[in-house]
Amino acid sequence: MKPAGSAEFEDDLKLGLRNMWYPVCRSDFVKDRPAGLQRLGQDIVVWRDRRGAVHVHDDRCLHRGAKLSLGKAVNDTLRCGYHGWAYDTKGQCVTIPTSKTVEARLAPKLCLPTFASQDRAGLVWAYFTDDASAPIPGLVIPEELERPEWSGFICESMWAANWILIVENLADPMHGPFLHGQSLTLGKGALEDDMRVTRTSGGFLVEREGQRGVNFDWSEIYGRDAMWVRLDIPLPFGPRGILRILCFCTPIDENNSLVYFLRYRNLNGWKRMYWRFLYRTFWEKQHFKVIEQDRVMLESQRRAQSRLVEHLSNSDRGVSELRRFLREKKAGGRS
Ligand code: FES
Ligand SMILES: [Fe+2]
Repeated sequence: MKPAGSAEFEDDLKLGLRNMWYPVCRSDFVKDRPAGLQRLGQDIVVWRDRRGAVHVHDDRCLHRGAKLSLGKAVNDTLRCGYHGWAYDTKGQCVTIPTSKTVEARLAPKLCLPTFASQDRAGLVWAYFTDDASAPIPGLVIPEELERPEWSGFICESMWAANWILIVENLADPMHGPFLHGQSLTLGKGALEDDMRVTRTSGGFLVEREGQRGVNFDWSEIYGRDAMWVRLDIPLPFGPRGILRILCFCTPIDENNSLVYFLRYRNLNGWKRMYWRFLYRTFWEKQHFKVIEQDRVMLESQRRAQSRLVEHLSNSDRGVSELRRFLREKKAGGRS
């Protein structure tokens, strides 16, 4: 097995883990026209049929290779904008504008690579496999995103950083009081602490030993058939209490990533309405300033170079555990 920190480890994982579900875009991004995206280094096209169901395919027409995202959705088919070849929701070619004999002979043989997809919690999810014949696991997402007692918002951003750096940052609570020390939410608590790491059934928990509920004091990394990070930050007002953040990271290519922070609270009645109002008018901007600090810092670390010259300490136990965890997953071991 290649050690984390080696160039080979970087190469193996630079475009993400396969055989996993990833959020690829917001649901409201996919309207009546097909949308072209790059995710995990692949060009994909996302579109909706007349019922509103979402479909995801390789963004390459099987005729001459034009991008299907430049075409249209027509009567529940995806029609290429170049010469009008059309594919159904399963990717099967159904129309070739030529003689009916040629169409009947050729079209049944052609099927677009197609991704299993789901439209849940305001996001479109796709399953990226390296074995098209293997069974597709169900998509498990954090329960907060679909339980009625929780209410939240999606924050989406694109960062010019490799996805591993982004997840490492989320497994590193000790950066809170330094990088975000001037923020309204993350300025409190001790600047020194020891870290503890505990394996869970789906991943691991990394936590500060000396404090809880003061700052970004713990995070839970989950990584079975989808990967996310769960963490809480305390809000000092509006209304006071914890803000739960569910974080997802989808590689675009080896140097760029799509990041989601889904910010949820367990509040009812007027408190829920008050928070939702304050979020839109106040908190969203504050939180954006905080994640901009992360973005700038991560974009300053050059991925492979930073890994090869670094010196980890006790406060990086979450980072070390994440690398161990990723290596195990890549090798097909426990997770
Ligand atoms: S390239 Fe798509 S129809 Fe010709
Ligand atoms: Fe941060």
